[in-house]
Amino acid sequence: MCGIVGYVGTKKALPIIVKGLEALEYRGYDSAGIAYVENNHIQIIKKEGRIANLQEHLPDSPSTIGIGHTRWATHGEASYQNAHPHQVGKFTIVHNGIIENYQELKKVLEQENYVMKSDTDTEVACALLDYLYREERDIQKTIDKATKLLKGSYAFGILCEDDPESIYAIRCSSPLIVATKEQEQFIASDVPAILNDTNEYFLLDDFDLAVLRKDHVSFYHYGKEIQKEKIIFEGTVESSQKEGFPHFMLKEIYEQPQIVQNTIRFYFDGTKESLDNSLPNLEPYQSIHIVACGSAYHAGLVARTLIEEIVGIPVTCEIASEYRYKKVFYDSHTLVIVISQSGETADTLASLRKANADGIDTLAIVNVVGSSIAREAKQVLYTKAGCEIAVATTKAYTAQLAILSLLTLKLACIHHTLQEDEWLEIKEQLRTLPKEMENLILSKQYEEIAKQIYQQEDIFYLGRRLDYSISLEGALKLKEISYINSVSYPAGELKHGTISLIEDKTPVIGILTDANVMEKTMSNLEETSARGANVFAITTEPINTMKTILIPKKHLLWQSLLTIIPLQLLAYEIAKLRGSDIDKPRNLAKSVTVE
Ligand code: AGP
Ligand code: GLU
Repeated sequence: MCGIVGYVGTKKALPIIVKGLEALEYRGYDSAGIAYVENNHIQIIKKEGRIANLQEHLPDSPSTIGIGHTRWATHGEASYQNAHPHQVGKFTIVHNGIIENYQELKKVLEQENYVMKSDTDTEVACALLDYLYREERDIQKTIDKATKLLKGSYAFGILCEDDPESIYAIRCSSPLIVATKEQEQFIASDVPAILNDTNEYFLLDDFDLAVLRKDHVSFYHYGKEIQKEKIIFEGTVESSQKEGFPHFMLKEIYEQPQIVQNTIRFYFDGTKESLDNSLPNLEPYQSIHIVACGSAYHAGLVARTLIEEIVGIPVTCEIASEYRYKKVFYDSHTLVIVISQSGETADTLASLRKANADGIDTLAIVNVVGSSIAREAKQVLYTKAGCEIAVATTKAYTAQLAILSLLTLKLACIHHTLQEDEWLEIKEQLRTLPKEMENLILSKQYEEIAKQIYQQEDIFYLGRRLDYSISLEGALKLKEISYINSVSYPAGELKHGTISLIEDKTPVIGILTDANVMEKTMSNLEETSARGANVFAITTEPINTMKTILIPKKHLLWQSLLTIIPLQLLAYEIAKLRGSDIDKPRNLAKSVTVE
């Protein structure tokens, strides 16, 4: 949530900061603002809404230092007054996260005659810095002291009037990187913001304080100077640009065949030995807990079916915001797998910490290298999907499916649950998988179907078992970007209540790839059709009685990688017809670093 960019160097700061913010706009877009130093004074410019609004009003300032922010509001509406940067006394800050005890702190500060101008928790943190500084008179000590009083999650970019040539940066549970290039230094919430200038950066650990000056960055941990390891980003600037596609989401859908191929090849060369060498040792585990949020949770549900069906060991799959607070039953033979594209999702991170604290083995499946979840899990597998910019995930989700399939395959080898011919079939099918994905992506049928349903306000998705797990993701994709109320049900459950919502022309999308339950789901679709529903089936078998999207039949292990594609493209085409902002849907943010 929220993008932070800071720059100090030899060039004009404002255009560099705006460009960085644009690259981070997927993280939040309620308002945008920049604080910069001109003639030793801190100036602020901020606007409601998108960065484009801010850009139109930017002065041509010679300033070479500043901090910028694109907001995803948590406290206080998306207004000018609540937009960052916030300034109190000598301090000006941008903030990502939530200060949980801000009400308490606010009361104390108000007694000290501070008057808050906004509804944000951020302004309270800023006032706290100013208040502590009055006594401390040392910026670093003031910031360190504030971290002892602030509860919650934060990444701060800080300017202080008394040191107008420096940017101070600190974080706790919210992402922040520091990048460096000779006479130019940067802070940013994520790597795409710096890629135009450099691919070298440092990760801050919680409570590391970075002090950036034109020609130097220093790092401290509670007063003690520390050295940080420089990281080189492997991707390219292009990987964070649209490259001619109208939307990042479409570009990312198109990248999937290559990404799935790369991800699988990275860990598996067709031999059991490669699974042994590249994936963690899974022998000790007799049960698995998978924990994640949103689409990553949906990927976990697919894995649950795969592992239970193919390997035969029990798997529970839980939503992280529930798991972190519930009583869990695990022991030394349980592996907790957390899945997260961003590696920063607050609830997933908290669930990981809970398992770590209980001494349970943890494995993270993460896309963003060096993210908090990647660093804190006992073992990590990277999804190799590259930068994902569209808020609605596509390629990171399929890369998660690919890794989860490989883990299933490894477990099946350990538990000897695959006959030789099935193993060969699984391997053989991999050869054609990317091409089959590509053919499905290139198929022209989605726009036509979208035209038939885009004006409806409710759409139902039905499936059983694996098909149900996939349909959950299909329904989420649609509601995220088209704002249609799309819900997914296990096909057999509909008649227990929800069928009352089926009216004339209500679209119902059935997923039928599992031969064991295909006829059952067919009957459920017929039931909705009999009540006037406009039924579409995504199916591996031709069905004469319904409108269908035919997809290739694969082994259970790979099937979902194909089934998801029509669902993603249908959501995309429907959203396009409805004219919604596909890459930046309302109210959402890419990385959910708050509870
Ligand atoms: C996906 O389209 C969503 N925007 C969202 O559900 C997402 O999958 C969820 O917030 C989890 O994010 P993570 O993978 O970064 O942890
Ligand atoms: N809690 C702060 C606010 O609502 C920061 C939100 C953000 O991360 O953008 O302004």
